[in-house]
Amino acid sequence: MPRIRVVGGQRLAGQISISGAKNAALPLMAASLLTDETLTLENLPRLADIATLSSLLEHHGVAIEVNGGDGPNKGRVAHFHAADIVDTTAPYDLVRKMRASVLVLGPILARCGEARVSQPGGCAIGTRPVDLHLKGLQELGAEIELDGGYIEARAPNGLVGGQVVFPFVSVGATENLMMAAALAKGRTTLLNAAREPEVQDLGHCLQAMGAQIEGIGTDTITIDGVEALHGAVHSVLPDRIETGTFAAAAAITGGDVELLGADLTHIGSFVDVMKAAGISMEPTDAGIRVVAINGRVAGVDAMTEPYPGFPTDLQAQFMALMTVADGAAMVTETIFENRFMHVPELARMGANITLHGGSALVRGVERLTGAPVMATDLRASVSLVLAGLAAEGETIVNRVYHLDRGYERVEEKLAACGADIERIWD
Ligand code: UD1
Repeated sequence: MPRIRVVGGQRLAGQISISGAKNAALPLMAASLLTDETLTLENLPRLADIATLSSLLEHHGVAIEVNGGDGPNKGRVAHFHAADIVDTTAPYDLVRKMRASVLVLGPILARCGEARVSQPGGCAIGTRPVDLHLKGLQELGAEIELDGGYIEARAPNGLVGGQVVFPFVSVGATENLMMAAALAKGRTTLLNAAREPEVQDLGHCLQAMGAQIEGIGTDTITIDGVEALHGAVHSVLPDRIETGTFAAAAAITGGDVELLGADLTHIGSFVDVMKAAGISMEPTDAGIRVVAINGRVAGVDAMTEPYPGFPTDLQAQFMALMTVADGAAMVTETIFENRFMHVPELARMGANITLHGGSALVRGVERLTGAPVMATDLRASVSLVLAGLAAEGETIVNRVYHLDRGYERVEEKLAACGADIERIWD
């Protein structure tokens, strides 16, 4: 199994291309199920999660053709054509690999009047139920039963618009409901909807496909269902989490890196915290320049919140940065109940972190030391790579398949800026 070897201490300098956003690409791909015409997506990242969802879509009958844009720094262009949905069941073997597979539920139900989707299991960062997705679809008239580990949803006469009030913000439930409501009869209102840029990207793509949607980017989204959607061409927005991750990489090495294609407007709250820590992040013609201005970063508190708050998907990376800060930082996680699995691994590298419920008190140390560590989930694993970039000596990150789910060629991108990092196979 591949591992990543990092020898810390190299200052990062240069340019890194930011790929298309995984968390935007996945719902956009699922949206192809809503029409019998071709949906073309540009700037698709090359990631394991994209391949996983592609396999599921092919199982449902989507013809996928990938072409173009194949320079190392250009995203791919792919055409998704769901002329017929040949199978309305999303089987366990394909769904268990990735929770986001549940995003096929809304589109298949809306288009075919029935869908059977394996219940996504728990996962490393918490129990992560899908009750909000199901309750929302019930508001649109779906009959839902749970049977043998499967969600069985039926709407023989089609879905009907309704009012869905989310008790708390859910990215996936908002996306599933937007897609389902696009083909429902009448008007659907989603209250307390997610406002994440990835949700907005889906909304804009659905509009390009002919959906009638208002309120994108606000917490109240109104969708007037239409009889059918048509094909469209849509470009996936740049990955704000990859952007934040490489910004933290530049910061932790005292570096100076330009993130090509990155968009500062998507990561405002992260930038505020980074600036308070002493890191400059300024827009350039090509993206964002990140510069560690003076020596050690300062300890700064951060608390995860739904967008536009500080993203939970950058919590682990920010914590890695704070392990070497001058001072202390309180890092609080409010979205997922078990998202501190990187803490014991960072501690093995010499970090000083005390956990109290949903908060981690990080007391900065002068230096980390390299160690063999274990990746546990996607963002936790990249936080260990970041720590390795700053640590004295060699860090070996095991189980990097977690990393490959969401980062495209991470070691190549970092090595091109001077990091001593490689993938090893043994
Ligand atoms: C998406 C992102 C993930 C990110 C998360 C929060 C994708 C593919 N993944 O995940 O990277 O960390 O948003 O920004 O886009 N919840 C319920 N019931 C539900 C749905 C969610 O209790 O039916 C809970 C979850 O357990 C979690 C919280 O709501 O505690 C937020 O989850 P949600 O926004 O739905 O996350 P995902 O869409 O799964």
